[in-house]
Amino acid sequence: MSLPILTYHSLDTAGSVISTHPDQFRAQMRQLHETGWRVISLGELIRLLQDRQPLPPRTALITFDDGYRNLYELAWPVLREYGFPATVFVVADRCGDDNYWPGQPTAIPRFELLDVPEMIEMSRHGIEFGSHSLTHPDLARLSAAEATREIVESQRILQDRLGQAVRYFCYPYGRSTPAVRELVRQHYAAGCSTELGLVRAGCDCHWLPRVDMYYCAGNQRFAELGRPGFARYLAGRHALRVARRYVRPAAPTALPLRAWPVVGQLPTFLRDRLGFLRRCAALPGDVVELDIGGPTFLLKNPDDIKHVLETNHAQYTKTPRLTSPRGKWLSGDGLLTSSGAQHLTQRRMLQPVFHHHAVAPFGDWMRQNADAMMAQWADGSERDIHAEMLNLAQRNIGQILFGVDLFGGATELGAALRQRRRYMEYWFASLFPWPERLPSRINREYRDVMRVVDREIYGMIRARREASTPPADLLTMLMQATYKDGSVMSDRQVRDEAMVLAITGYETIGEALTWTWYLLARHPEAAERVRAEAPADPTVADLPRLRYTEAVVSEAMRLFPPTWIYIRMAQQTDRLPSGQTIPGGAKLYLSPYVLHHDARFFPQPGRFNPDRFLTPAAGRPKFAYFPFGGGPRVCIGQGLAMMELILTVARVATRYRLALVNDAPVTPEPGITLHPQNGMRMRCNRLSP
Ligand code: HEM
Repeated sequence: MSLPILTYHSLDTAGSVISTHPDQFRAQMRQLHETGWRVISLGELIRLLQDRQPLPPRTALITFDDGYRNLYELAWPVLREYGFPATVFVVADRCGDDNYWPGQPTAIPRFELLDVPEMIEMSRHGIEFGSHSLTHPDLARLSAAEATREIVESQRILQDRLGQAVRYFCYPYGRSTPAVRELVRQHYAAGCSTELGLVRAGCDCHWLPRVDMYYCAGNQRFAELGRPGFARYLAGRHALRVARRYVRPAAPTALPLRAWPVVGQLPTFLRDRLGFLRRCAALPGDVVELDIGGPTFLLKNPDDIKHVLETNHAQYTKTPRLTSPRGKWLSGDGLLTSSGAQHLTQRRMLQPVFHHHAVAPFGDWMRQNADAMMAQWADGSERDIHAEMLNLAQRNIGQILFGVDLFGGATELGAALRQRRRYMEYWFASLFPWPERLPSRINREYRDVMRVVDREIYGMIRARREASTPPADLLTMLMQATYKDGSVMSDRQVRDEAMVLAITGYETIGEALTWTWYLLARHPEAAERVRAEAPADPTVADLPRLRYTEAVVSEAMRLFPPTWIYIRMAQQTDRLPSGQTIPGGAKLYLSPYVLHHDARFFPQPGRFNPDRFLTPAAGRPKFAYFPFGGGPRVCIGQGLAMMELILTVARVATRYRLALVNDAPVTPEPGITLHPQNGMRMRCNRLSP
C-alpha cells in the first residue's frame, strides 16, 4: 500500500510553477472529502512507518513549502472546513518577509510569507510548522558549518518563536548530501524531499517522496488519485526528471553565476538583471568582482559607496555612455553629462532654481493635475495605473518646466519626448546599438524627433526673451539664473538643461508613484493611515505634517528604487574603505536595489514596513539608502520629487481606493528605470466624501 503527500506552494492566480489556483485547491479538498479520503498528519505517518504498520488505503497528507501568506487567507479556511491537518515548511529567517531569497529565479513571482502571529494562530488550529532552513540555500553547496547553522539554528528559532517543538524538515530546492541528511536525521523526526513518488512501507523517514501539485495541475489528474494509473503516471514523470538531471545538471539557482567565453557574465546579467544582482548580493564580502566587460565591481558596503559618491568623488566619473560625444548627443551637454569643473559651475548655478522656496509654488499645478486625472476615473473603473502615473508626472514636469500641457494639442513636445524615450530604451537594451552616424531607421527617427524637440524648446526660449513678463516656470528661472560673474546661460545651454530636466523629471516619479499604489493596495492598513493623516485639501504647507505618507513613499523607493543601478569609473587606482583595491579604469556598479534589500540595514528586507522610516535608524549607514544618489551629484530634483510624491499620494488616497484587479504579483522590470513588467491594472473605487 502507498499514500501520497500532496505538496502545495502558493495559492494564487499567477499561473507560475509554484502557483495553485485557489478554486482548484478548494475543488481538490472537496473531492478528497466527498470521495472518502482521510488526511493524516506527518506525525501519524511517521508513527506508522516507525511501527512498521501497513499504510492505510485512501489516505493522504498535505504539506505546503515556503509558507506563503496566502495560505492564511485561502488555504487554511478550506482545511478547517474539512478538518484536514497539514504541515507548513517555513524559512525561519524570512517569516513576515517575502520569497526573494538569494538564488530564487526571477520567473518565480514575489509573494509575502506568513508572519509569526499568523503562524501561532494557525498552529492552534490543526496546522503544524516545520523548518525549511534559515535562508533557503542549496544545502548541497554549503560548508559543514553553514549547513549545520541552516538546519539546527532554523529549528531553534522556530521553536522559540512558536513556543512548540519543530520536528520536521524540508530540504530547500530538494537538494541534500549524505552529510546534510545525517544532520537532519540527528535533529528532526522526518525530512521531506522533492523526489516525486508515493510513500511506501519501509520508506526513509528523512527523505520522504512527495507529489508536487504542479504535476496535478488539471482536476482530471487529481481525480485519478489512488488508482494504479496515478502511480504509473508519477513513475513516468519521476523517470523523466531523473533523465533530465543527467542531460542538464541541477539548475544553477545558486552561485556561481554563469560566465560565457569572451562576453563573460554579460548575457547572464542582461537576461535577468535583478536576479543576477540578488545572486551577487548573496556572495560573501563587500565587493563582488564581475566578469562583465573589463574590470567591474559591485559594491555592497555603504562606506565604499560613500567613498565613491561623496568623499573621493573626484576620482570617480560617470561612464562614456553619458560623457562621450554620443552621450551628449543623446542627453545634452548639461548637468547630467558634464564632469569636473564644468559640472560644478553648472550645479552651483542651477541649485537655487531647485531650492524648496523656489519650487513650492509648483505644488498648485501638481494638485490641479492630480484632480484632472481623477476627474477621468469613473467609480469602479479599471485603469493601468502605471500609464496614469507616468502621464501625470509628465504633465506635471511639462507645466513646471515650460508652463504647457504636454498632452494638449498646443505643443508637439510631449509626443516628441515620448518618442525619444523609446529610442533611449532601444539604446539602453542593445548590446551593440547602431553607431549614431549611420543612417539607420532608428537613427533617422531620432534625428527627426530631436528636430521637433529643438524647435519647440528654442521657440519657448525665444518667446520668454520677447515677453515683458515671462511665465513663472522653471524655464524662465533657468534663463534668469546667473553664473558667479553675473552672466547667464546661452540658449543652447538652456535648451540642454531643459531637455535633461524634462527627461529626468518624470519617469522616476511615475515609477515611484506606481509602486506606492501597488504597496498600498497590498497593505490597506497603511493606506488607511495615509488617509487618516491627510487634510481634505493637502497643500505644500501640510508637507511637514504628512510624515507617514513620506515614510510610505520612502519605503516604496526602498523596495522598488526607480534608479535601481548606476555606474562610476575609477580614474586611477584607489583603495576603498573596505580594503578592496580598485584598478584605474574599472567600472563600479552602485545599486540602490542591492543595498535597500540588505538585511544588515533593513531587517526583513522584503517586507513593506513604512514605520522603519519614522524613527531614525540607529546604526544604519547613510549610504544604505540612496534612491537619489549622493555627494555632489545627488539628484538635484530630490526636493521637488518628494513634494510631488507626497502631495499626489495624499490627494489621491483621500479620494480613491486603488485595488489590484487580480492578486497576481507584479514583476519589476529593470529598464532605464524600475517599472512593472506588464503595467499595473487597478480598480479605482471612489471614496465617499
Ligand atoms: C523619484 C524621483 C527621482 C529619483 C528616484 C531620482 C534619482 C536620481 C539619482 C539616483 C540621481 C544620481 C545619478 C548618479 O549619480 O549617477 C539623479 C540625478 C539627477 N536627477 Fe533625479 N531623481 C528623481 C527625480 C528628479 C526630478 C524631479 C528631477 C528634475 C526635475 C531630477 C533631475 C536630476 C538631475 C538633473 C540629475 C543629475 C544631477 C547631477 O549630476 O548633478 N530628478 N536622480
